[in-house]
Amino acid sequence: MIEEIKKKVAKEAAEMIKSDSIIGLGSGSTASYFIKFLGERVKKEKLKITAVPTSLKSAELAKKYGIKLSDFKENSSVDIAVDGADQIDSSLNLLKGYGNAHVREKIVARASEKLLIIADHTKLCETISKAVPVEVIPFSLKLTERELKKIGAKKVEIKKDSTGKEVVSDNGNFIFLADFGFVKDVKELEVKINAIPGVVDNGLFFAGDYNITALIGFEDSIRFMKSS
Ligand code: 5RP
Repeated sequence: MIEEIKKKVAKEAAEMIKSDSIIGLGSGSTASYFIKFLGERVKKEKLKITAVPTSLKSAELAKKYGIKLSDFKENSSVDIAVDGADQIDSSLNLLKGYGNAHVREKIVARASEKLLIIADHTKLCETISKAVPVEVIPFSLKLTERELKKIGAKKVEIKKDSTGKEVVSDNGNFIFLADFGFVKDVKELEVKINAIPGVVDNGLFFAGDYNITALIGFEDSIRFMKSS
């Protein structure tokens, strides 16, 4: 059922894309459905779009569906980015990065005039509480772990794949999952984590930094939510 809900919001988002625009392509399963539906429109309706992908996987998928790709060597802004999320709080602050792509996702989101978040209703929460993905340069590993604990992380684990191997991001770095419990002040923690040496970026996205619309899928409806 959840997969059907993800497909439904992804299709709705793909319908919202206009010709002659630059699109940010997110990562993860919901974003992958979006890329597929967008590709179908490109083929059928000859929609003229260029896309900036947030991961190698999304780039591959977009290529497969005939979507023209670009990057920040060519553009400095994106009209609309469409991406998933791991948690969405009541103010539309986001936790992202469980698909290991939050560094590029944040770059694309910041470059975008609009950020369209597509997710099923299980991602909604009152306060962000899942462990925060933190991408870290391998050289800095133990030092960064120590400093994350100093600023309040109760537990810091290196992210592993299903075979037990450490995950390496598209940028060649490791990812920590740092458990801070309930995150009351998203902006403060986002900034504090990023001030630690060795940290590339973390998966907290403060709502005030983006123009967010969220399409939240339920079994029989889609709820539109907007950041103020
Ligand atoms: C990838 C992400 C994804 O948007 C997030 O993990 C949601 O994925 P899914 O749509 O598979 O639930 O942040 O880094």
